[in-house]
Amino acid sequence: MKKIAIITVVICAAAVTGCRFNNRSEGYNYMPDMAYSRAVETYADLDSSRFTSDTAQAGGKIYYDRTPVPGTIARGEVSSFHLPMDKMGDSTNYVASKAIPNPLPALSAVDYLEAARLYLVNCAICHGDKLDGNGPLFDGGNGPFAAAPKNLITDPVVANMPDGQMFYSITYGKNAMGSYASQLSTKQRWMIVHYINEKQANANTKPAATTVADSTGNAKK
Ligand code: HEC
Repeated sequence: MKKIAIITVVICAAAVTGCRFNNRSEGYNYMPDMAYSRAVETYADLDSSRFTSDTAQAGGKIYYDRTPVPGTIARGEVSSFHLPMDKMGDSTNYVASKAIPNPLPALSAVDYLEAARLYLVNCAICHGDKLDGNGPLFDGGNGPFAAAPKNLITDPVVANMPDGQMFYSITYGKNAMGSYASQLSTKQRWMIVHYINEKQANANTKPAATTVADSTGNAKK
């Protein structure tokens, strides 16, 4: 009898707190998933902050501004690089990156020209258009950039560097060299890795002067 009384009181309390006089309001949300979609709609205004820690922006509105869920891959994107950046003083992932292969097939003639262009735009200012570590920013020590960029052809470490590790350094930076993750897509970074490998291979078999492509993509003699 006592039990029934308690159950009745609980049900009445739930009914009273669950209803509002404003019939546009859904009342107390016992299971908020029913009222608020968890689906992330890009740039949609949020009507609830229940499933996000995004904060209110200008105008007091809350927007979804989260970065993609770690490990997810955008449509059309090459498989992502799952290793995060090492913390200061740690090199675990830098070492582990050696095992990650280049997901792209060897460069086609067209892709090679695009990779050469990307290299010239992003890297040649320091590493030089001949990949000799002597771009205009360094200029044999006379330029404004004090740290010597690596010679990507003859430096023994870079010459023997596995693709994944090169990708790691381009993605997260290395000492005085910054990250290129925001300037170059994942695919573009892997293309540049292929490009550097091809230049290294060509340098061993051909005279350097015949293999350079300029910024317009035309082969220079
Ligand atoms: C602002 C100058 C600068 C630019 C631009 C730059 N680098 Fe570097 N890079 C450096 C310097 C300096 C080092 C040597 C870092 C060290 O080991 O101390 C380096 C090192 C490297 C290494 C060796 C990394 C390692 O793990 O030892 C690679 C590979 C490399 N750069 C590739 C690139 C590529 C590809 C680009 C273009 C996407 C690029 N760099 C753009 C300055 C630059």
